[in-house]
Amino acid sequence: MQEITGYLAPEGFLGDLLAELGAAPLAVHDRLVLAEGPARPLAWAENVWHAPQTLKIASIKEGAKALRAMQRNWALYDFQLHRRARLIQDQLPHVSAKPLPFPQPAPTAPLGSWTLIDAETILAAPHCSSPFPNGAVQFVEDKAGPPNRAYLKLWEAFTQLRRYPGPGSRCLDLGSSPGGWTWVMQQLGADVVSIDKAPLDPAIARLPRIEYRRDSAFAVKPADIGALDWLCCDVICYPTRLLPMIRAWLESGLVRNIVCTLKFQAETDHATAAAFAAIPGGRLVHLHHNKHELTWLWPGPDRAAPEAA
Ligand SMILES: C[S@@+](CC[C@H](N)C(=O)[O-])C[C@H]1O[C@@H](n2cnc3c(N)ncnc32)[C@H](O)[C@@H]1O
Repeated sequence: MQEITGYLAPEGFLGDLLAELGAAPLAVHDRLVLAEGPARPLAWAENVWHAPQTLKIASIKEGAKALRAMQRNWALYDFQLHRRARLIQDQLPHVSAKPLPFPQPAPTAPLGSWTLIDAETILAAPHCSSPFPNGAVQFVEDKAGPPNRAYLKLWEAFTQLRRYPGPGSRCLDLGSSPGGWTWVMQQLGADVVSIDKAPLDPAIARLPRIEYRRDSAFAVKPADIGALDWLCCDVICYPTRLLPMIRAWLESGLVRNIVCTLKFQAETDHATAAAFAAIPGGRLVHLHHNKHELTWLWPGPDRAAPEAA
C-alpha cells in the first residue's frame, strides 16, 4: 500500500512548506499537505500526520464512533464544514485545551488529528508529531516579567527539547535586547552573559546573575566566553551570517546546547535553512511562536535526558 504523510503548514506559510517539500503533493486541504512516502523532518510543518487514513461516514454519529474506535484523544483540524466537524468532535472524549504553565513538560499522551475533507469523508491520523492540537502550544503567559513576547519562543524551544537551563547553568544570549530570552534563563536560575548592540530593558539589566556586554554577536569568539551550557541566539541578521558563527561554536567544542533563530526577509532562504537542517544532532523547526523565521535546536550529541526538567 502507498505510504502517505500529512504535513500541517503554520498559518501563512503553506508556500514555504510546499517549497521545502519539493515534490508535487498528492493533495492540499487548506494548510494540510498530503505527500507520498514516510515522514520527512520538514521545518515548515507545525504538525506531522503519520499514515493518515480515510474513513467513509454516513452520519455524525458514525464519524465519532469510527474515531473513538481508533483511539481516545483527537484534535480537530477545522478548516471547512465547521458545524458538522464540531458536532463530531463534541462526541469525542474531551481533550484539555488548558494553556501550559512553563516549565511544565509537554503532555505525553498520544494525540491524533482528524479533519473532514468532505461531508462523508474523514481523514484521520492517530499518530502525530506534536502533543498539542495542530502543533499550537499555548502557554500561561507572564504579562509582568518579560519586556516583550519573544520569551514565548524560548519557552517553546525548551519545551520541545524537554530540557532547559537551571541553577548553575552558564548561558550566552546573543542579540538579547530588550531581554526576553535573558529573562527566561535568569528566571530558571542560570547565569547569563547577555550580548547586544542595543541595551537591555532596565528592569532586566538590574536582575542578578546577568552580565550584559554591549557588543556585536559576530565579534564574540568562543574562546573569549569559555564553556557554555546553552548558547541562545536571536540576532536579526541574514541566516548566511549565522551559519559560520554557529559552526565556529560547534567546532570549539565549548557549547552543550544551542537554540538559534533564523530570521528571513521577504524571501525565505531555503538553501541556508537546509544547511542548518543538515548539521548532525540538530533539528530545524517552525515554532508556533515563530513568525517568518525558523528555530534551530541542537541538544548536543548523545544527550536524551533533560538537564533540569
Ligand atoms: C528580535 S531582537 C531580540 C529579542 C530578544 N531575544 C528578546 O527576547 O528580547 C533582535 C536583536 O538583535 C540585535 N542585533 C542585530 N544585529 C546584532 C549584532 N550584530 N550583534 C548583536 N546583536 C544584534 C538587535 O539589536 C535586536 O535587539
